[in-house]
Amino acid sequence: MEKLIIHGPKTLNGKVKISGAKNSAVALIPAALLSEKKVIIDNVPNISDLHKYYTILEELGVKITHLSNSKIQIDSSNIHNFEAISDNVKQFRASYYLLGTLLAKNGYVKVGLPGGCNIGERPIDQHILGFKKLGATVIIDSDNVTAKSDKLIGNEITFDVVSVGATINVMIAATKAIGITVLKNVAKEPHVVDVANFLNALGANIVGAGTDTITINGVNNLNNEVQYTVIPDQIEAGTFLVAGAISGGEIEILNCIPQDLECIISPLKSAGVNIQTFKDSIKVNSNNIFSPINIITEPHPGFPTDLQSQIGVLLSLSNGTSTLTEQIWESRFTYIDELNKMGANIIVNDKTAVFNGVNHLKGAKVKATDLRAGAALVIAGIIADGTTEITNINYIDRGYENIEDKFRKLGANIERVVE
Ligand code: EPZ
Repeated sequence: MEKLIIHGPKTLNGKVKISGAKNSAVALIPAALLSEKKVIIDNVPNISDLHKYYTILEELGVKITHLSNSKIQIDSSNIHNFEAISDNVKQFRASYYLLGTLLAKNGYVKVGLPGGCNIGERPIDQHILGFKKLGATVIIDSDNVTAKSDKLIGNEITFDVVSVGATINVMIAATKAIGITVLKNVAKEPHVVDVANFLNALGANIVGAGTDTITINGVNNLNNEVQYTVIPDQIEAGTFLVAGAISGGEIEILNCIPQDLECIISPLKSAGVNIQTFKDSIKVNSNNIFSPINIITEPHPGFPTDLQSQIGVLLSLSNGTSTLTEQIWESRFTYIDELNKMGANIIVNDKTAVFNGVNHLKGAKVKATDLRAGAALVIAGIIADGTTEITNINYIDRGYENIEDKFRKLGANIERVVE
């Protein structure tokens, strides 16, 4: 097993380029199977969740060609299997996008029940609600979900819960349904908009992504020749914003979409962080004195749950008492025990964590408990006094491309070693 060794405290200075969005790419790549043509996707992050997806798609007969480190070609002309039930499928969450894609493409699909980071129950009842409203028959057994339909029929669907996955999955399924589908109470994250733009590039007819209502006019096929570029990762950019805010230097975040980051820029500015936004970059620095703030995680454009642990490191160092309320997932405070090992003073009361600010953190042996918790511990280790060892870094590699290289280039003393 590998671990990260970080010697702190270090000040971060310089420029960092954000990679393509994980939570967009994990949907675009399966959705490309809707096309009968070869599809090229660029700015794909080099992360382990996507490596898993490539294996799963190749098991179905899809040909993935790596044209560069971040550009792939997807050719599904010889797909011969519509049952994704291998162990690879159960290792991560986004395999569920094969349900919407292959239901629309083939009228039959079986997918292993999704796994994913242990941040709580990961139900898919809203995905199934949508498929059934489109006329599909859906059967769940202990291991798999099977969906079939001779022809999907457009319908009006109002989700009970705002769900990124269900919004995207049902939007994909509806692209070739007969007639019009109207989705309400939908997720509005940047990656939802990116997937809608990709589907339209393929030939779909979708309007309203990013608003409260998405309308999909069914089409017969999605056969445009497409080379599509994944948007920059909002959460990776937010992770580096927090790192730049607490490290005492100034970093410039390149290849990002500032308006997608208003949800974290605003609270950081309230805490006293200096942030300048430009067309596709952001500069961040601070005097390392942070006013206490209170944050509640919500669907976009609210504060993203995927940045909750990262900003928790800043709240640990704020002048006073701050609170963080997690409304999306049941178990996303597991990083707090690890931060407390580093000298933080955080108490969890059900869905709210209370941060009593301390002057500094100290290096310790800690473990990543989920993808974003791991990223938070990297930030904490960079600014802590002494040496921090982070194990279970496979979680981090699921969603961050070369995290140690990017931080080292900014001045961090960080290395990956084999345990
Ligand atoms: C996506 O997960 C992201 N993952 C998550 O990011 C992110 O935390 C989440 O959206 C919220 O933004 C991917 O995109 C691969 P949801 P998803 O469906 O789609 C409930 C990361 O760190 N719900 O929006 O699985 C659910 O329990 C990962 O990159 C249902 O009740 O999340 C949760 O409380 C972690 N029924 C809420 O909705 C359903 O059918 C939001 O879940 C689906 C969801």
